[in-house]
Amino acid sequence: MKKYRCTICGAEFEVADGEKPVCPECLMEGDVLELIEDTPAAKQETAAPAADPAALHRISYGLFVVTAQENGKDNGCITNTVAQVTSEPVQISLTVNKANLTHDMILRTGKFSVSVLSQAADFALIQRFGFQSGRDTDKFAGFADCARGADGLLCVTRGTNAVLSAEVTGIVNLGTHSQFFGRVTDMRVLNDTPAATYDYYLKNIKATPKKIGTTPEGQTVWRCVICGYEYVGDTLPEDFICPLCKHPASDFEKVTS
Ligand SMILES: Cc1cc2nc3c(=O)[nH]c(=O)nc-3n(C[C@H](O)[C@H](O)[C@H](O)COP(=O)(O)O)c2cc1C
Repeated sequence: MKKYRCTICGAEFEVADGEKPVCPECLMEGDVLELIEDTPAAKQETAAPAADPAALHRISYGLFVVTAQENGKDNGCITNTVAQVTSEPVQISLTVNKANLTHDMILRTGKFSVSVLSQAADFALIQRFGFQSGRDTDKFAGFADCARGADGLLCVTRGTNAVLSAEVTGIVNLGTHSQFFGRVTDMRVLNDTPAATYDYYLKNIKATPKKIGTTPEGQTVWRCVICGYEYVGDTLPEDFICPLCKHPASDFEKVTS
C-alpha cells in the first residue's frame, strides 16, 4: 500500500501496490503526486495461525517452593508461576493446579510463602516438593533446611536466595488452575546466588534420564519434558495428564535411543 499527497490540492490518499496513483479530488497524475508512505506488502500480510507448544518453553520463568500451613500441617509445592504484578502495594501472582494440596491450603487460609529457588538448588529438593503430594506424605518430615517466617509459614533456606510472604487479595478461576494474587507482607534476601530459571533447571538441575527407546518387552516409552515422568505404552492417550507435574500429553515426547 502506498500513500500520496497531491501538491496541487493537498489531498492525501492511498493506492494499492501496482495501481496508478490519481488524485481523487483534482484528478491530477504524475510528478505532482508526492509519495509520503510506502508499507511493504509483507507487513500487510497476516500470518497463518500456528500452534507450536515449543514457543511456550521459550518464555522465561523462575522456580519457587510455595508453602502454606493449615491446622498445624505444613506443606509446599514447586511452581514456576510466581510473578510480581504491582508495586504499590507490592503484589505477586501465583498459579496453582487445583489437584495440588497446596492449592486447597492457600484457598482455605488466604496465605502463602514463596521461597525463590537459586542455582544452588539440587534435584532432591525439587523431588521432595514437586514430585510427591502432601496428601500422601509429610514433605517437611526430616527436612532441616527450613525456617518459620513472621507469617508463621515454613520457608526453604537451602537452595534458595529470597523469601516472600503474601496474603491473598484475589483469586481467578482458570479451570484446571487457580491464579492467586497476594499482597506481599514480608520479603527478604537470603544470599546472592543467582535465581534458577526454569530453563536452568531443565539444563542443569533436572536429572537426565537415560536414553531408552522401548522397554525390554518392546513397548514405547513417553517422557514428560517438564518433570521427566515416563509413561510406557504404544500410544499415549490424548487426554493423558502427567501424574507428577500435571502437564498434558502435548508435553510428552517419544523417547528414542
Ligand atoms: C519443575 C516443576 C514445576 C512445576 N510448576 C508447577 C506450577 O507452576 N503450578 C503447579 O500447580 N504445579 C507445578 N508443579 C507440580 C507440583 O509441584 C506438584 O504437583 C506437587 O507434587 C504438588 O504437591 P502438593 O499436592 O503437596 O501441593 C511443578 C513441578 C515441577 C517439578
